[in-house]
Amino acid sequence: MRTRCDRTAAWPLLQSQFESTGKTLDLRDAFAADVQRFADFSQHAPYVFADLSKNLLDKATQALLFDLARQCGVEQHRDAMFAGEAVNTTENRPALHFLLRNPPAGQYIPAQAAIDKIADKQAEVEATLNAMLAFATQVRANSDITDIVNIGIGGSDLGPQMAVLALDAFAEKSRRFHFVSNVDGQHLADVLAQCKPESTLFLIASKTFTTVETMTNAQSARDWFVANGGGSTQDHFAALTTNVAAANAFGITTTFGFWDWVGGRYSLWSAIGLPIAIAIGSQGFREFLAGAHAMDEHFRRAPLAQNLPVRLGLMDVWYRNFHGFASRSIAPYSHALRRLPAYLQQLEMESNGKRVDVQGQALPFDTAPVLWGEPGTNGQHAYFQLLHQGTSVVPVEFIAVKTPAHALPGHNSKLLANVLAQAQALMVGRSDAGGHKNFPGNRPSTFFLLDELTPASMGALLALQEHRVFVSGSIWGINSFDQWGVELGKVLAQDIEPRLHSGDAAGLDASTAGLLQRLGPGRR
Ligand code: F6P
Repeated sequence: MRTRCDRTAAWPLLQSQFESTGKTLDLRDAFAADVQRFADFSQHAPYVFADLSKNLLDKATQALLFDLARQCGVEQHRDAMFAGEAVNTTENRPALHFLLRNPPAGQYIPAQAAIDKIADKQAEVEATLNAMLAFATQVRANSDITDIVNIGIGGSDLGPQMAVLALDAFAEKSRRFHFVSNVDGQHLADVLAQCKPESTLFLIASKTFTTVETMTNAQSARDWFVANGGGSTQDHFAALTTNVAAANAFGITTTFGFWDWVGGRYSLWSAIGLPIAIAIGSQGFREFLAGAHAMDEHFRRAPLAQNLPVRLGLMDVWYRNFHGFASRSIAPYSHALRRLPAYLQQLEMESNGKRVDVQGQALPFDTAPVLWGEPGTNGQHAYFQLLHQGTSVVPVEFIAVKTPAHALPGHNSKLLANVLAQAQALMVGRSDAGGHKNFPGNRPSTFFLLDELTPASMGALLALQEHRVFVSGSIWGINSFDQWGVELGKVLAQDIEPRLHSGDAAGLDASTAGLLQRLGPGRR
């Protein structure tokens, strides 16, 4: 059913298109030639307006990209995911993160094909969500708890951390949230120094409940809690995990489960989202899910040509495989979204940083670009020099919010003026000054605009990014839902750790052995 992009009829046509007009497309000429360009290359989706017009695309290219999507079977692949098929082929699992944001049964009728596979799961999702939200409500009502410490890493950290920061305007201010991820003990030590055992709730967030960093931090947190007279761990530790048995064995009885069909980087909609629910409340969390669901419905139902995740995913392929752009910069002009780039790095690079297709065959083309970025306007005073005048072209994704959550006068207009100006400067450039002051322009960018940063718009924005990653992964013929590339380092670390105690370097490569000897034995 899936056809890899390079085996479609559209692929060589896109190559010809790139050679004939694509690589020389000039945005300034394109706008001059077409007064409709802004309208034709912008797209409304739930809660998100996207202006794609400052991208190196024309209508002929877009038409070929839609052909490519059809020939790759993107729509069928999407429908297979929503029908609960095992789209995560290497782990033989479905990818049902969308189920976590479906409205309660009775309010939502899934497609007939999906009913058999997902109806029983939907009931479990609802029961767990209700239990988790009831717990969040209880925590919010307990004024003795002043500090929430989430211990988790990767998807068990980046999503909830990013969203708690993003939705701070909707959070109660009486509680502090801390996110401890790094196995570097300094991270936990810094947080513990700010907390008191009797007023702290630890959330141990781990899909597997085996991740070394999280288990090490959880153990140390418990030791600190006991050593400092915290009392009953039962009241101060909860686990968010698919491995409830391991959490129980660790001594945690308050647990909120999820399922192997929720990938770590797609898990903030599940029990892993508990810090978000504590921060913004149960109604806010339901709005967050509802915003994401609205985007799910857009992705499922909008025709390809008006389907924002499809348009973005196809543009990603165009840039990566034809223009050869190796990275994409994320520029949220919103302090609240400051952790979004880190979250998107895991989402896209762990999903699509793959070199073999679903059959295990080596790919003859590139896949995920490197994602990076900082919030604006900070990035302007650091690396925007390279974006404007460097030798490589880096597509930029601006995210702006129309109405701010703060009331300080004079800031929002400056922020918005800057984001508009940067996108404009990248495109129009400057040729009236020579040499060092010349700006080549014609540098592409996408502009996302949210009316407000709310739980619902945040949910929609994140689901949009998930589906866009699905689309490019689908075109590339890869499995976007596994992450075997993270395993080797974990295995080698298990071998190296005892050597740091003993100093034994036997059998290691000369560089690792040399470094081990420099560190010396007796490391703890
Ligand atoms: O090592 C990568 C990874 O497996 C991610 O995919 C995941 O989000 C993270 O580790 C944390 O895993 P867990 O939630 O099982 O602790």
